[in-house]
Amino acid sequence: DQKKSLEGKTVLITAGPTYEAIDPVRFIGNHSSGKMGFSLAEEAAKRGAKVILISGPSSLKPKHENIDLHRITSAKEMLDKVFEYYNTIDIGIASAAVADYAPKVVASEKIKKNEDTFTIELIKNPDILKTMGEKKSHQFLVGFALETQNEEENAKGKLAKKNLDMIVLNSLRDEGAGFKNDTNKIKIFTKTEKIEFDLKSKENVAKDILDCIEAQYLK
Ligand code: PMT
Repeated sequence: DQKKSLEGKTVLITAGPTYEAIDPVRFIGNHSSGKMGFSLAEEAAKRGAKVILISGPSSLKPKHENIDLHRITSAKEMLDKVFEYYNTIDIGIASAAVADYAPKVVASEKIKKNEDTFTIELIKNPDILKTMGEKKSHQFLVGFALETQNEEENAKGKLAKKNLDMIVLNSLRDEGAGFKNDTNKIKIFTKTEKIEFDLKSKENVAKDILDCIEAQYLK
C-alpha cells in the first residue's frame, strides 16, 4: 500500500454560511451551500487526513469516515468550535462565508409587524480566520476571498492582514464561480506566487487547492 499524501495530518475546514439570529423566527444569512467546504473535506479525507469539518447550516452530509463533522449556527459558535481544536491541527482552511455583522440584541419573542420602516442595529462579529492567524504557531493557514471588485488587490490584502500562507480567490464576476454552483473558478495566491485555474467542478477545485497546499506545506 502506498502511503497517502496527507496521512498523519489533521486538517480543519470551515464551511457553509453562518446564521445570525434576529428573533426566534428570523436570521441574517447568505447564499453559501457548503459545497466548496464539503468538497475540500472529502478530498482531504481521501488523501488520508483526519478532517475536522465545522459547518454552518447546510443540507450536505459528509461521506468519508475520516470526516468529523460539527454543525454550528452562528459565527460565535464557529469561533468557539475552531478554537476547541486549533492547537491540534496541521492545516486550517477557511471556506465558510461568515457573517461580518450580527444583530446587537436578539429579540426573545417574534418581532411584530408595526411601523413602515424597521431598523436592526448590527455589531461586528469576530473574524475567525484573522484570530487563527494571530494565534498561528505551526499551522499552515489557507483563507478564501469572495470578491466583487478589486479582486486581486483585496485577496492579497487579506493574505497579509490575516497572516495566511495561501488565499483562494473566487469572484462573483466570473460566471459559474462562488456560491451555490457545483462549479468554481479560482486564483490562488501565496506570498510569492499567483496561479490561475479554469472553471471546474468543486470536487476538482478542491483537488487543485490541496495539490497547492501539499506543494507548499509538505516541501
Ligand atoms: O458554500 P458554497 O455555496 O460552495 O460557496 C463557496 C463560497 C463562495 C462560500 C467559498 O468559495 C468562499 O469564497 N468562502 C469565503 C467567503 C467569504 O466570506 O469570504 P470573505 O472574503 O468575506 O472572507 C475572507 C476570509 O475570512 C474567508 O476565508 C472567511 O472564511 C474568513 N472570515 C471572514 C469573516 C469572519 N468574520 N470570519 C472569517 O473567518
